[in-house]
Amino acid sequence: MSILSGKKVLLGVTGGIAAYKTPLIVRLLIKQGAQVKVVMTPSATDFVTPLTLSTLSQNPVLSSFTEEGVGDHAHWNNHVELALWADFMLIAPVTSNTLSSMVNARCNNLLLACYLSAQCPVFIAPAMDLDMYAHPANQKNMALLESFGHIIFPAQEGFLASGLEGKGRMMEPEDIIATLTSQLEKDSPLYGKSVLITAGPTHEAIDPVRFIGNHSSGKMGFALAEEAARQGAKVVLISGPTALSPKNSQIELIRVVSAQQMHTAVFQHYHKVDIAIAAAAVADFTPAEPAQQKIKKKTGLPEINLIPTVDILADMGQQKKQQFLLGFALETENELDNAMAKCTKKNADAIVLNSLKDTDAGFGGDQNKITFIQKNGTTASFELKPKTEVAVDIFAQITASL
Ligand code: CTP
Repeated sequence: MSILSGKKVLLGVTGGIAAYKTPLIVRLLIKQGAQVKVVMTPSATDFVTPLTLSTLSQNPVLSSFTEEGVGDHAHWNNHVELALWADFMLIAPVTSNTLSSMVNARCNNLLLACYLSAQCPVFIAPAMDLDMYAHPANQKNMALLESFGHIIFPAQEGFLASGLEGKGRMMEPEDIIATLTSQLEKDSPLYGKSVLITAGPTHEAIDPVRFIGNHSSGKMGFALAEEAARQGAKVVLISGPTALSPKNSQIELIRVVSAQQMHTAVFQHYHKVDIAIAAAAVADFTPAEPAQQKIKKKTGLPEINLIPTVDILADMGQQKKQQFLLGFALETENELDNAMAKCTKKNADAIVLNSLKDTDAGFGGDQNKITFIQKNGTTASFELKPKTEVAVDIFAQITASL
């Protein structure tokens, strides 16, 4: 399956003769399973018709901030919404005029407004006559756009619309798609991988209204899920009760309550994943016989008989085949030795040791300080940092070990 499958692409088209090739770009993107919305500058509509592009993209083509509506009700095209919808933005062709506007944050058309609002990767395919392309002003603008983190698809040598021959042709649509694909694959080290993550606490019922639980917020597990999805993985997130919801639509969230439910959900997916991460703070004990009705005060202090919960990580370790299995450990003494022993006992490939020594680290907080311990004893320690950044470090360690 192509990495473009399911991707939301905002395609910007500006007013250059190479715009006649954009229908082919749309066609190729759609063929690979992408969703495409096209935004044109007003002058681009002189070179290729919005009807052609809307037919091929199966979406309305937008070229102004407002559309004629029924009666007095004009419709406003929300550039922020459009820009946030996109997984990436491709602007092809880009004229000298638009290059300069992008660099200078000019915002006099819908395409520029979308570009300035975009939080996603931006790919730019310039096209102009050879002398214009070689002009230091345009070369400087392209270098500046690269310094913003955008990717330029350089113009190609060949026949130009002016009748001259040289470097200035827009990269051919097939090459744009091939370059785009390899760039996206490079940016997605987990592309093609599936990742299972447990997160949050579990609640073990005492009676229909009370439970044994813990203070886990689920933030670390959810941050790991977001990072895995951002790096292109297919993610199943199995979470105990938390107030969080995943942002990335590629994350499949399964909500559970108890350790037993988490175990059942995990083993519905475990056999087919490449990476499994046990970030949940699973309760170690559960009431042997939860009361069917609310326990009343007048019956006196209840005696609650506890039995151990099923150890999900240990069971994953026992049934491990192709999976890279990562556990978490929270220790208060002999931290490294205890974490290493836990890694071996549960047959994990690595374990993340959470430190409780820093205020704001660990349970409930937004930050964490970890040591990543491989089963061969190699360790990597990291500074106290936001859990979103800890997730990046953890996946860097995992991909290095795969
Ligand atoms: N874990 C699990 N199922 C359990 C208990 C723990 O999957 N019933 C996982 C956690 O998600 C974590 C790892 O095991 O990845 C370590 O959990 P921890 O509670 O620190 O270890 P325990 O084995 O419970 O040992 P102890 O509490 O005695 O330190």
